[in-house]
Amino acid sequence: MTFSLSPLPAGRQALPCDRRGEGRSLRLATEVRGISILTFGSQWDKLVRSKSCSVGIYCRRDGYWPSTNRALQFDKRRKGAPVGIKAVRGFNDVLPDEIGKWQYVEKTAREVFEGFGFSEIRIPILEPTELFSRGIGEATDIVEKEMYTFTDRSGNSLTLRPEATASMARAYLEHQLYTFDPVAKLYCIGPMFRYERPQKGRYRQFYQIDAEVFGVENPMADAEVIVMLIYFLKKVGLEKLELQINSLGDRVCRPRYREELKKFFTSKSFQLCEDCQRRLQTNPLRIFDCKVETCQAAIADAPKVSDFICLECQKHFDKVKEYLEMAGLTYILNPRMVRGLDYYTRTAFEVVSYQLGSQNAVTGGGRYDNLFQEIGGLDIPGIGFAIGMERLVSLLPKEKEFVLRPHLFVAALGEGPLKEAYRIINQLHLAEVRAELDYESKSLKSQMRRADKLKARYALILGEEELKKGKAVLRNMETKSQEEIPMANLLETLKSKIL
Ligand code: HAM
Repeated sequence: MTFSLSPLPAGRQALPCDRRGEGRSLRLATEVRGISILTFGSQWDKLVRSKSCSVGIYCRRDGYWPSTNRALQFDKRRKGAPVGIKAVRGFNDVLPDEIGKWQYVEKTAREVFEGFGFSEIRIPILEPTELFSRGIGEATDIVEKEMYTFTDRSGNSLTLRPEATASMARAYLEHQLYTFDPVAKLYCIGPMFRYERPQKGRYRQFYQIDAEVFGVENPMADAEVIVMLIYFLKKVGLEKLELQINSLGDRVCRPRYREELKKFFTSKSFQLCEDCQRRLQTNPLRIFDCKVETCQAAIADAPKVSDFICLECQKHFDKVKEYLEMAGLTYILNPRMVRGLDYYTRTAFEVVSYQLGSQNAVTGGGRYDNLFQEIGGLDIPGIGFAIGMERLVSLLPKEKEFVLRPHLFVAALGEGPLKEAYRIINQLHLAEVRAELDYESKSLKSQMRRADKLKARYALILGEEELKKGKAVLRNMETKSQEEIPMANLLETLKSKIL
C-alpha cells in the first residue's frame, strides 16, 4: 500500500472521533463524506497497515485531534472502497489465502474417517430448541446462556445448533438407521453457533469436524475413535499434543458423586460466585466449568469423580486404557476433566495443545450412553468427538504450502496474442490445468509481476513475433529459464511440461 502523511485536504475538517470505535483497534468507526474515521491503538504503524480505508484521519483513541490536522492518504486504487456493513461479532470470513488449509484438513478428515468405516451425514443448522435443552442439559452453560434461540413465524422455538452430536443422534433415530445396521459410524463437518465472549480461538460461529459411533457399548469403540482422532491429527501435521482421559461414571455411580460434590461445595459456598450458587442446586458438576478465581480455588480440593465410579465403569475404563496402550497411544489421566455437556457417561477425553493459549482444547469427546433416551428415543449407546477447525487450522505447520498456485500464467502482448491466449486458456481450463490470464494485456513487466504475485509455476508468453513464427515462450517462474515451444499441439506440450 502506498501512503503519505500530509495536511488535511482543503475544505476537509477534522471530525470528532466516533466513540463506537473506541477500544477496538483499527476499526472503521464512521465515514463522513468520503473520509474514513479510524480508531486504533496508539501506534502509527498499526494505522498504516489498515486495509479498510481510503483516507484515514489520524485520531487518538480518546478522540483527541493533533492540532496539525494531518491525514493519511491511502492509495485508493489499490486498497478499494471503505468498508460498509461488517460481519457480526464472533462470525468470521475464511478468505482465499486461508481456505487451502481448511480444504486440506477437510479432505484429510474425509479420507481418514472413511478409511475407518465412517460415512458422512449432513444435518440441518436449525433444530427444535428442545433437542439441545434435553440432550445437552438445561443446567449447562451452552443451554443456559450460549444458544442462538428464536421463535419462527409459526411460533416454534428453534436454535442454531451449538454442537452436532444431538442432531446426529436425532437423525439416526428419525430415519431409523438402526434398522439397516444397529452400529452406525457417522461424521459431519460444519458450523456451530454459541454466544460466547469472542477471543482468540473462541468464536460465535465456529466449525467442527464431528465423528460419532452409535450402537456400541464395548470399550473397544472408545479406543477406536480415539485412535482414529490421534491418527488424523498427526496426519494433518499436528505435533506436541496431549491426550487427556477420564471416566465420568454412569447412572449408577454418578448420583453418589453428585451428592458428595453437593456436600463439599455447600461447605465452600461462601467462596462460590452467584452462578455457582445456582449450579450447586441444579447440577454441582457444572461448577467445574467456572473460571471465576474463588470458584477455581474451591474446585482445587473437590472430590474426584474417579474415586466414586462403580465397578462396571472402572472395568470399562480399564479396558479403554488397555486398548489405547495396545494401539501405542500415550495418555494423561485427568481426574478433574468433566466436560461441559451433561450427556457424558464413562469415557471422556480431550486433546490439548499448549501452543494454543487459554483456549487449548483442539478436540473434546466422550461416551454418552443416555443421550438417545434423553431425546426421547431408544436405549442406544454412543461415543464420539468434535474437533474445533479454527484451533486445528491455527496449529498447522507453518512451512507447509496450502495455497493452490496456478500451473500457468498466460501473458499476451497485443490484441492478436490476447485472442489466441483466450483460446488457449479456455482449452487449459477444460483440461483442468490451473491457468490465469491478464485480460488487459499490460506490459510484459507488469504481467510477470502479477504471475509472481500469484506464485504461478510457469508463464506462457505470447507476442506478435512468436505467433508469426508459430511459437510461444514457456518460462519457468522459479528458475527463470525459458524455452520456445511450438504452437502446434500446444496443450499436449504444456501438459507434459508443467503438470
Ligand atoms: P466441545 O468440547 O463443546 O464438545 O467442543 C469440541 C471442540 O470444538 C472444542 O475442543 C474446541 O476445539 C471447539 N470449540 C468449542 N467451542 C468453540 C468456540 N466457541 N470457538 C471455537 N472453537 C470451539 C462438543 O461440542 C461435543 N459435541 C463433542 C462430542 C462429540 N462429544 C461426543 N461427541
